[in-house]
Amino acid sequence: MKILLTGANGQLGKQVQQLAPPGMQLVALTSDQLDLTNAEQVQVLVRHHQPDVVINAAAYTQVDKAESESGFAFAVNQHGVANLVNATNANTRLIHISTDFVFDGHSQVPYPTNAIPNPLSVYGQSKLAGEQILQQQVSTHSCIIRTAWLYSAGSKNFLHTMLQLMQTRDSLRVVADQRGTPTSAAGLAVAVWRAVQLPQVNGILHWTDEGETTWYGFACEIQRLGLEYGLLQEQVPIHPIATSDYPTPARRPAYSVLDKESTFAALGLRALPWQAALATVIRQLANN
Ligand SMILES: NC(=O)c1ccc[n+]([C@@H]2O[C@H](COP(=O)([O-])OP(=O)(O)OC[C@H]3O[C@@H](n4cnc5c(N)ncnc54)[C@H](OP(=O)(O)O)[C@@H]3O)[C@@H](O)[C@H]2O)c1
Repeated sequence: MKILLTGANGQLGKQVQQLAPPGMQLVALTSDQLDLTNAEQVQVLVRHHQPDVVINAAAYTQVDKAESESGFAFAVNQHGVANLVNATNANTRLIHISTDFVFDGHSQVPYPTNAIPNPLSVYGQSKLAGEQILQQQVSTHSCIIRTAWLYSAGSKNFLHTMLQLMQTRDSLRVVADQRGTPTSAAGLAVAVWRAVQLPQVNGILHWTDEGETTWYGFACEIQRLGLEYGLLQEQVPIHPIATSDYPTPARRPAYSVLDKESTFAALGLRALPWQAALATVIRQLANN
């Protein structure tokens, strides 16, 4: 099977490459090689490679910056998806990644895949617009996998930021009134590959690790495991704060836990509890 991956240099893109099952012919393209906003380039490359499946791991992901750069956010997250859809033929499956930020966070129970989205931020609106392009045009043989709070052993994520701050600050203040689920990009990549291998799976899927916590709870567990595996030498106090104590340009959902049961059943695969997935990544960092 021939697979074309976009966003190859991103957090998820790297894990998708590392975890490719044997026998997959993977063409992994970075934003330099394939710019989703360039309709002509997308046409030429997709037609040249003729993939059976396109995994779209590319996105504009700067949640706060999107508030002042909505044109860029929509260019990638909406028009970029349209460019991909227009370039593929009727037999090509698209596996597209979306976000918990399509929800407003007013729920108190996990969001099922058919819950009504109502994004609070420009980023969330642009990702929802991308979902809608897919649903209108290729929903019978494509899937949208919504995920949340992604991290990996690489940089530019909450885990990396916390480990840095825990080594350089005397204390930390972390938001304790937003609930969600930290999710290992490696675990998501395994789910993406499972979806690639199951052509009958389509529509909206939800994939995060199991369980739920706050950013504060996530930070405390990072510190606990960091100390246990020797990545950190000293404990620093972590103070829980409210979202209102840490204003950001973009509004974020107060609750964005996703209901994953239908996805686990469709894929025949369950996610790990978030603490176990985090321990695996911290152990990897400690061994490198
Ligand atoms: N990170 C999270 O917490 C989170 C949460 C929920 C959902 N998601 C979704 O999960 C997916 C993967 O996220 P991630 O964390 O892996 O993001 P990421 O690390 O920011 O990677 C995104 C990749 O997209 C590329 N890209 C940006 N604009 C592009 C364009 N015009 N054409 C082609 N590529 C472009 C970037 O290229 P450069 O390398 O050149 O910047 C980057 O490599 C995204 O759909 C995101 O919306 C992420």
